[in-house]
Amino acid sequence: MKKILIGKTTGLKGSVKIQGGKNAVLPILAASILTEEKVKINNCPDIEDVRQTIKLLEMLGCKVFFVNGTIEVYPKDVEDTRISSEYTRNTRSSILFLGAMLGRLGRIVITKPGGCKIGERPYDLHIKGIRGLGVEIFEKYGDIVAYTDELKGGRIHLTFPSVGATENIMLAAVMAKGRTSIYNPAKEPEIVELAGFLNSMGASVKGAGKDIIVIEGTDRLHGAEYTVGGDRIVAATYMAALAVCRGKIKLLGVSPLYMEEVIKTFRNMGISIKLLPGNKGFVCKNKGEIKNISYIETSPYPMLPTDVQPIMAAVMIYGNGVSRVKEKIFENRFAYVEELKKLGADINIKGGDTLVIYGRNKLKGCQLKSMDLRGGAALVVAGLGAEGETVILDNGYIYRGYEDIIRDLKGLGADIREEEISEEEISEDGEKEER
Ligand code: UD1
Repeated sequence: MKKILIGKTTGLKGSVKIQGGKNAVLPILAASILTEEKVKINNCPDIEDVRQTIKLLEMLGCKVFFVNGTIEVYPKDVEDTRISSEYTRNTRSSILFLGAMLGRLGRIVITKPGGCKIGERPYDLHIKGIRGLGVEIFEKYGDIVAYTDELKGGRIHLTFPSVGATENIMLAAVMAKGRTSIYNPAKEPEIVELAGFLNSMGASVKGAGKDIIVIEGTDRLHGAEYTVGGDRIVAATYMAALAVCRGKIKLLGVSPLYMEEVIKTFRNMGISIKLLPGNKGFVCKNKGEIKNISYIETSPYPMLPTDVQPIMAAVMIYGNGVSRVKEKIFENRFAYVEELKKLGADINIKGGDTLVIYGRNKLKGCQLKSMDLRGGAALVVAGLGAEGETVILDNGYIYRGYEDIIRDLKGLGADIREEEISEEEISEDGEKEER
């Protein structure tokens, strides 16, 4: 358990290189087992979810080396094994090994990652989609059991553009006999990155990021090298920090192409965002007050991502009026709201899915507790604007997605540091939570 100590910060400056995208690298790591040859992935963030996925790959029989942001996977000896809860309970993207193992070996038993704090996280769309590829698939005692003699291309219509289900179907379909068409697929940038990686392995995936993805299956993929793009949610987090602290910062290594809605929202709050030539990043500036936004909602890409909802709310608590944020993807993504209230924020949940926020100038630091990854990041952003000291107890949630948020923000001039938490403080705080 760590303790993050934050002091009110006025004026961020300098530049930061944004880490590689978490939600891009995890599906790509799953895809690496679709070949027997070496795969090299550059710009990988050194975060807990990546470390856990490497453990899973090693358990499956891969040799994996992770040095200076580059992961080399040698997947020749992938074995026919069950993937137990030890490997799935902490990393939700482990479910992508369902499609990847079907593509590689035609069978898998995998324990479902289960529900989590932000919502139920069902897998029905994954299962229906995979079934459409000629796979026998069913749930048994918390496991998903799936096998087939031959993956067959199919026409799959998703009733909701689920990111995970689209990725699982893509991972299996590239190794199927014949053509697969995915209707109403997710269009997130991470889908485009996965398609790019699969194509660099010799697959034929067309239409990623559009309304229909068409995949011509093959029986063999080869090794590949790929460089992951910058993490758009981490970039949004540092824009939020800038909004709260004021100042001028440069965010490098992240393309604005996939951040249109996020950029638009920050601009509406009064933040100046200038794009650097060649899609290399942004210069963000905030000299004045934060404008309220009467209404925004999260929705599948290209609309505002659910992952930035807590981060935007942490900025809006310092806004100059009333803001409303509707969460349309996950049913329980407001655990951080009670924590923001402890700072004195006037933020309430209406109708179960909408935040109503009355912005205030002055909030007061106190002890908070992170409950999930992006909710934890939101507390960091909020803490930067509060008078006095804010202390965030974090049971590893933030490190699941941020390589080193302390290093990055400190480098921009923020008053932030971390300490290991003592045993006494843990027992004072109550039980240690499962992630
Ligand atoms: C979601 C986000 C993604 C984000 C990721 C990590 C969306 C659409 N997806 O992806 O951008 O990077 O979280 O925070 O914003 N659902 C079902 N049945 C299924 C699968 C999903 O009903 O089989 C529902 C979920 O309950 C949820 C919605 O679909 O309400 C979005 O799920 P999905 O896109 O699959 O989630 P992730 O892949 O985790």
